[in-house]
Amino acid sequence: MRRSELPNDDISLVDAVIDGENESIMLYRKDDAVHAWLNVCPHAGRRLDYAPGRFLRDEGRLVCAAHGASFDLESGECLAGPCRGAHLRAVPLIVGDAGELAWAGEPDDVTSSG
Ligand code: FES
Repeated sequence: MRRSELPNDDISLVDAVIDGENESIMLYRKDDAVHAWLNVCPHAGRRLDYAPGRFLRDEGRLVCAAHGASFDLESGECLAGPCRGAHLRAVPLIVGDAGELAWAGEPDDVTSSG
């Protein structure tokens, strides 16, 4: 997958095996930057999407569908809600010179979950 395949200022969902576990990963692209976060809320461990790949947004922030915590998508910090000050778990991502995405330390390219 390449950065150019990701919609700008939006969240794309991919599946990946991280440390031997199947994980749901959110990819947030903002211009040339791509941030990868586990799709797990630090409040109660629930998924952040309300349906697979569908996320609530409010003034650019990501809002957890379970209890409403809101997160800055570039820093991953919870700015309001029940886990204020906590952070989303970052997933190390490499963006190559041609915009190709790869997990740091993993041999496989990032592939879409569909
Ligand atoms: S699980 Fe996300 S706010 Fe509670």
